[in-house]
Amino acid sequence: SAGRITGIKSALRVIPNFPKPGIMFQDITTLLLDPKAFKDTIDLFVERYKHERISVIAGIEARGFIFGPPIALAIGAKFVPLRKPKKLPGEVMSEKYVLEYGSDCLEMHVGAVDSGDRALIVDDLIATGGTLCAAMNLLERAGAEVVECACVIEVPELKGRERLRSHGKPFNVDGDAVALDNV
Ligand code: PRP
Ligand code: MG
Repeated sequence: SAGRITGIKSALRVIPNFPKPGIMFQDITTLLLDPKAFKDTIDLFVERYKHERISVIAGIEARGFIFGPPIALAIGAKFVPLRKPKKLPGEVMSEKYVLEYGSDCLEMHVGAVDSGDRALIVDDLIATGGTLCAAMNLLERAGAEVVECACVIEVPELKGRERLRSHGKPFNVDGDAVALDNV
């Protein structure tokens, strides 16, 4: 799969100083323009999870909504969106989390996930890991077992992987065979 990883990495791009000076923005939209690289990205996740009895893929708004559903369809799992506040119409569970500046919140519909569900949490990128930790808390509060968190891109300097490990959960960057670190 080394060829696939190379293709995926070269389809990603970094935009300096977006959305503000000093930030290197990891842009996945160019990956989506390359059907081969996009398919390889999904396939690497599917190969890793198809025999793990995953019953639910939880995707994090917004960019986790791009990668989560194709994985869910391929492995026969349900898809549950974890949304920013006040977007979901039904009864919700909320989990606040702290960002570099300020705080944010993720919400999930009550009843979307139950005890006995085996969950994979999907997002495009792990930076500090705060977002994924909040997602794990939500799923665990609903009684699900979080099998793993999976992302396409890791920003290793921000040590999100260690934060997840301290939460007691394994972390996978696109199949870990892939280790799309530091693009
Ligand atoms: C980005 C990214 C991850 C999160 C990672 O999302 O897509 O979801 O930040 O950061 P963390 O590991 O430090 O928590 P963002 O909140 O910018 O919004 P978007 O996905 O809706 O564009
Ligand atoms: Mg995001």
